[in-house]
Amino acid sequence: MIVNELITGYLASLAHDLPAELEELKERARKAHVPIIRDDMLELIRFLLLKEKPKTILEIGTAVGFSALYMKSVVPDARITTIEKVGMRLKEARKNLEGSGIELVEGDAEKVLPVLSGAYDMIFLDAAKGQYGRFLPDCKRLLAPGGLLLTDNVLLEGSIAGSRFGVERRDRTIHERMREFLRELTHAEGLVTVILPVGDGAALTYKSHDV
Ligand SMILES: C[S@@+](CC[C@H](N)C(=O)[O-])C[C@H]1O[C@@H](n2cnc3c(N)ncnc32)[C@H](O)[C@@H]1O
Repeated sequence: MIVNELITGYLASLAHDLPAELEELKERARKAHVPIIRDDMLELIRFLLLKEKPKTILEIGTAVGFSALYMKSVVPDARITTIEKVGMRLKEARKNLEGSGIELVEGDAEKVLPVLSGAYDMIFLDAAKGQYGRFLPDCKRLLAPGGLLLTDNVLLEGSIAGSRFGVERRDRTIHERMREFLRELTHAEGLVTVILPVGDGAALTYKSHDV
């Protein structure tokens, strides 16, 4: 947790209710240990969607479809495409997304992204943290000018701020890659980024111009 529990709890008391079917899906996902977005990220996404009213949204990392369905509930007219590669998750996602109008693309984003063409008004990047850097060139290409890229989990529970030697050996590669990704994201020409201590850290980027 990046922000202390007292503040997170207070903010949760101001959060908006989810539609009943999403509340159920959230509970099911949490019980099954499926990693889905945290409640404070939902509020940030809600704000961005209502403010920007994106017509096209690309999500990288469907899991079981919770965040895609949430976005659809906020902006029902948006065309949403979501990518997932893990068979077990896909099985559940197919069921949950049936009839929603959300397009589920099955495959590794590393292979799927290069063959997609844009432009997307918003991209939600919420997949394997160690791969974010590899996805960045395609995200940049696929974003419409003025479009938003929202990247989740960038602060690695706060460990990103410390030395890589302060984290478990198995997490050092992700730590190193995430730092490189954030360095690139915050300094890329044509992108403007702010990093917010929301959820597990959210990088909010907009494409100011094509380069
Ligand atoms: C944090 S979960 C996504 C949660 C979802 N956005 C939500 O909040 O409901 C990350 C998902 O990304 C998927 N994933 C990881 N790397 C991927 C890749 N290279 N291509 C497609 N999916 C990937 C994982 O299998 C996992 O289901």
